[in-house]
Amino acid sequence: MSHGEHYRDHLQILDRYLTEAIEHAGRQGLKMDGVLFHSGRLATYHRDDELIVFRPTPHFRRWVPLDGPEHAVLARPGRTPLVVRLRPTDYWYDSSPQPVSYWEEAVELVEVGTFDELLGVTGSLDHIAYAGSSPAAAAQAGIPEELVEPEALMAPLDWYRAYKTEHEVGALRVAAKSVAAGHLRAREVFEAGGSEREAHWAYLEAADLLEHELPYGSIVAYDHKAAILHYQHKRGAEAAPGKTFLLDAGGAHEGYAIDVTRTWAREDAHPAFGQLIEGVDAMERELVAMVTSGRPYLEIHVETHRGTARLLAETGVVKIGAEEAFDRGITRTFLPHGVGHQLGLQVHDVGGHQAGPGGGTVAPPADYPFLRNTRILEPGQVVTIEPGIYFTPTLLDPLRAGDDADAVDWDLVDQLIPLGGVRIEDNIVCRDGEPEDLTRHLIPGP
Ligand code: GLY
Ligand code: MN
Repeated sequence: MSHGEHYRDHLQILDRYLTEAIEHAGRQGLKMDGVLFHSGRLATYHRDDELIVFRPTPHFRRWVPLDGPEHAVLARPGRTPLVVRLRPTDYWYDSSPQPVSYWEEAVELVEVGTFDELLGVTGSLDHIAYAGSSPAAAAQAGIPEELVEPEALMAPLDWYRAYKTEHEVGALRVAAKSVAAGHLRAREVFEAGGSEREAHWAYLEAADLLEHELPYGSIVAYDHKAAILHYQHKRGAEAAPGKTFLLDAGGAHEGYAIDVTRTWAREDAHPAFGQLIEGVDAMERELVAMVTSGRPYLEIHVETHRGTARLLAETGVVKIGAEEAFDRGITRTFLPHGVGHQLGLQVHDVGGHQAGPGGGTVAPPADYPFLRNTRILEPGQVVTIEPGIYFTPTLLDPLRAGDDADAVDWDLVDQLIPLGGVRIEDNIVCRDGEPEDLTRHLIPGP
């Protein structure tokens, strides 16, 4: 199937989701004939004329891969989507025509110079809801407040975002290729003794991405900084070379985000750390194989803690048996995050705790408050699998001071703290049979 055909299929599926969402809203007493999806409005920093980096709203982007503010899609069940593209007359920013793209012939496309001209091309927006980030834009379009992102509409739309079409998986595959190029180059820089900053720049160059095109700030962490889950800095020569390297870096294509982590250690790093990298990597492959239809994602998370307990026991980090380490909850100190999350137009994609298309929440269990996905896996869902083991002093200190201190080999832990932590992460599509791993074959593990 060609790119354009996949996109047409994608639009048909979105039309079905839209129809269901509108019917659901109707049953809640909210009548509407369609939805105006708005890409968003530019904003500046406080008391500044400098623009905050703009990202189109994900629900808009699901309809059309168009970047930039003030575009809109008028979507009505059973009708071809009307895309209103903003092309202002402007000499501050480039607004020259974009090359014709595969999606244009599948939609009705009109251009306007200002958002105010929108009504002229859409006709009446009576009984049209607004989905987007700017209540001011909705008001400008004359859409009443009760039809601005009503929960009864947004809950089903959020829910169905989890089910990726083949068009969307195709975009993820494109993003994965550039992410792979970045990871391979950044690793070379680490091995050659370059700094975190240099590894970061090498990543961007090889992935052919600008900083603002990253779906999230890359985590480029040498040594003990790898134990900081969202470590945000990039150190220069003062921190190079590193003995260990955790790189959590992604990329996006048409808004669809890939999110991959690899961890590397030099030969002269403590051998237990190398053993942990290999162990986490092997465990991750087993967890990936668990991404099968009908399984609660939580089950994979709990299995990750069992596997972590086994690894901690095998490497001698804990001095008790794996089973006991799991039962006593000791793994939670070494693995303080969930095993992963949904992935798509947001790197932590929407709806991970949703109970159903009508809304409601399934909270993660009290033992695992940071688990971002409590849904049942089904074909089309795309998730990350990212087990990790970290030596984080702020988490270790209470364990060291508490009743379970005797379970841990603190001499070994103190030798591992300077090496930070391990995380291995790939991106997986749930299918009817075996899962499809989008990233592993492109980015080798240790
Ligand atoms: N890539 C960072 C995270 O998933 O939290
Ligand atoms: Mn992730």
